[in-house]
Amino acid sequence: MNILVIGETGQLARQLQRLLPEAEFWGRDHLEWDDPSNLDDRLQSAAPDIIVNTTAYTAVDKAQSEPQAAWSANAEGPRLLSAAASKLGTRLIHVSTDYVFDGQSTSDYTESDPTRPINVYGATKLAGELAVSTMCPDHIIIRTSWVFSDNGTNFVLTMLRLAAEREALSVVSDQIGRPTYAGDLAEAIVQVCRKPTLTPGTYHLSGGNACCWYDFAVEIFDQALKRKLIKRIPDLTAIPTKDYPTPADRPMRCVMAPSAALTELLEKPPNWIEGLASVLDSLAVQKLNQAN
Ligand SMILES: NC(=O)c1ccc[n+]([C@@H]2O[C@H](COP(=O)([O-])OP(=O)(O)OC[C@H]3O[C@@H](n4cnc5c(N)ncnc54)[C@H](OP(=O)(O)O)[C@@H]3O)[C@@H](O)[C@H]2O)c1
Repeated sequence: MNILVIGETGQLARQLQRLLPEAEFWGRDHLEWDDPSNLDDRLQSAAPDIIVNTTAYTAVDKAQSEPQAAWSANAEGPRLLSAAASKLGTRLIHVSTDYVFDGQSTSDYTESDPTRPINVYGATKLAGELAVSTMCPDHIIIRTSWVFSDNGTNFVLTMLRLAAEREALSVVSDQIGRPTYAGDLAEAIVQVCRKPTLTPGTYHLSGGNACCWYDFAVEIFDQALKRKLIKRIPDLTAIPTKDYPTPADRPMRCVMAPSAALTELLEKPPNWIEGLASVLDSLAVQKLNQAN
């Protein structure tokens, strides 16, 4: 099976490289959404059986002041890809976000719940979803949340950096979500690739019990201290969102109910606490190798 992954440097793409060494990966040198010329021709020569789109403009706050760049990668890119995949008759697996919801629901979001993004990132990702679902009949959209891994920009790496720089930290405790290990998301995508009979549509996948950013930080520091990745746990204070203003509003309770049809393809359901352990083990090995 010929799998083409769009993107090669991101958190998800790196995990897919580990699990799908035989797949072809297109980084920005192959495809840049700000200049996607000859996409149809290039896809035709690559002749993929499945296309996996991992690219996105993920800087949620920066997107508020760079809406055009966010639109280009999150909405226009998926539109072009959907048109090309549809012409080729190729399955397109596309990744989206919990930020398509407004975070006002008291129950967990299902795939059929109404969307209402509250920031530019969410709005552009929703536009990408709409393009994929209307233009490419053979599509699988996987919505995920709070992705972390041992590379790129994410909450785990930010907390570890801040722990080295500061004695005390304030962390938001009234935004609730489900952290997701990029390795679990990649594993789900591999299983989707192996299941061509999975019905086209939108699926939710995230990593285990819901928590707030403060609880996530506590778990990160506990596990990091055990592996000597930090010297001490900073003094932590739980604060409300109103005391941590950011350019982009965040959904307050954005908890997605996992899709049974997707979870049952996996050996075991994703678990962010175990995923965090894998990430910190990997960082501990990297630290040891650097020291030697
Ligand atoms: N990160 C999260 O917390 C989170 C949460 C929910 C959903 N998601 C979704 O999950 C998917 C994977 O996210 P991720 O965390 O792996 O993202 P990431 O680490 O930020 O990687 C994004 C990738 O997209 C590429 N990219 C960005 N703009 C591009 C452009 N204009 N042209 C070509 N390539 C471009 C980046 O290339 P460069 O490295 O060269 O910039 C990078 O390879 C995305 O669809 C994202 O929206 C992520």
